[in-house]
Amino acid sequence: MAIFHYHDGELFAENVAVAAIAAAHGTPAYVYSRAALEQHWRAFDTAFAAQPHLVCYAVKANSNLAVLNVLARLGSGFDIVSAGELARVLAAGGEAERTVFSGVGKTAEEIAYALTANIRCFNVESIAELERINHVAGEMNKVAPVSIRVNPDVDAGTHPYISTGLKENKFGIDINLAPAVYQQAAAMPNLDVVGVDCHIGSQLTSVTPFVDALQRVLGLIDTLEQQGISIHHLDIGGGLGIHYKDETPPTPAAYAAAMQSLLQGRSLEILLEPGRAIAGNAGLLVTQVEYIKATDERRFAIVDAAMNDLLRPSLYQSWMAIDPVQPRQSEALNYDIVGPVCETGDFLGKDRSLAIAQGDLLAIRSAGAYGFTMSSNYNSRPRAPEIMVDGDSVTLVRARETIESLFANEQILQD
Ligand code: LLP
Repeated sequence: MAIFHYHDGELFAENVAVAAIAAAHGTPAYVYSRAALEQHWRAFDTAFAAQPHLVCYAVKANSNLAVLNVLARLGSGFDIVSAGELARVLAAGGEAERTVFSGVGKTAEEIAYALTANIRCFNVESIAELERINHVAGEMNKVAPVSIRVNPDVDAGTHPYISTGLKENKFGIDINLAPAVYQQAAAMPNLDVVGVDCHIGSQLTSVTPFVDALQRVLGLIDTLEQQGISIHHLDIGGGLGIHYKDETPPTPAAYAAAMQSLLQGRSLEILLEPGRAIAGNAGLLVTQVEYIKATDERRFAIVDAAMNDLLRPSLYQSWMAIDPVQPRQSEALNYDIVGPVCETGDFLGKDRSLAIAQGDLLAIRSAGAYGFTMSSNYNSRPRAPEIMVDGDSVTLVRARETIESLFANEQILQD
């Protein structure tokens, strides 16, 4: 099925006109495609079919319950980074036994919650965290399954804010120190060492850094075997990039083929944590042009979505495609697409050639990952609704926030 496509001069999400969704639910609004989510998840699952594996979707990319539920129904696992994300997975029908817990700052409460739920594994990022998990598990009379996230010191070649596998990053344990740390972990009575974990960054557009990292991690697994520590699973993280503009990232199949050539003859179960590659191109943000404003220097299209709705352009200078929902035949001019927030950095796109007028709808593409999940209420703006299309059907999967809800937890002083 065509996912987002033009038909009769207007943009459709599966079988539904995006303009009809905007008319029914207002703008700005996030629109997701169930078919796209399923297609992207299955691409990973099929690509790794030759060996035991589990696709653990990275919940941070898009944590809407309906998105998680669509993936849970396919048998997906999940990669979480907080108690909140675990609660979402469970509420959406996901299985704790298929859930891994990443992140550098797990609190004792979060660890206890994850142990009670019986998650699949903790991806541990420091010795202090190993000690804390061991302690909490001991108090609960439990044994915690752990893998250690190692930092292979590989340059992912991506934006510095989303590169995580270099020595200077806060993530993981230096791979050269890992054998000693594994010995420490193996000696802790309430830990069960089951895996090795590695995630080197996000929006990678070449397989080379993945292959380099895998080679180093497999070397570590061999060293551990010699030390008598046997590893059951290898979590290779997420990070596969998507097409935003002119990137040509490897397909999940090409990525899997490159990894599998190194994995032959090993009996490891492979865990993967893709987020963006599943959700990114399964969603868009639809917004309306409120005003056209020209200065001597530039021409602005002021739209009703802003950096609080979609932070990526402001935070990473990310280029995201912006397309008219109902294209006009008139002359295209260059616009900066900006929001109403009081910051010069509040833009969604710069120097875009578009034929538009006040009142037109624009679709910001590839917004299914790190879109809504990074949104905020800055400038007291209620967050946008989320809508899931499935064939002909349209479901509001998160209602637009109300203004009252924004300060419902606030309190003024009594005297
Ligand atoms: N696993 C771990 C441990 C991670 O830290 C991440 C992403 C993933 C998996 C999923 O990576 P993905 O497959 O989505 O690349 N907000 C940024 C991206 C931050 C990624 C953080 N970690 C953006 O909008 O580009």
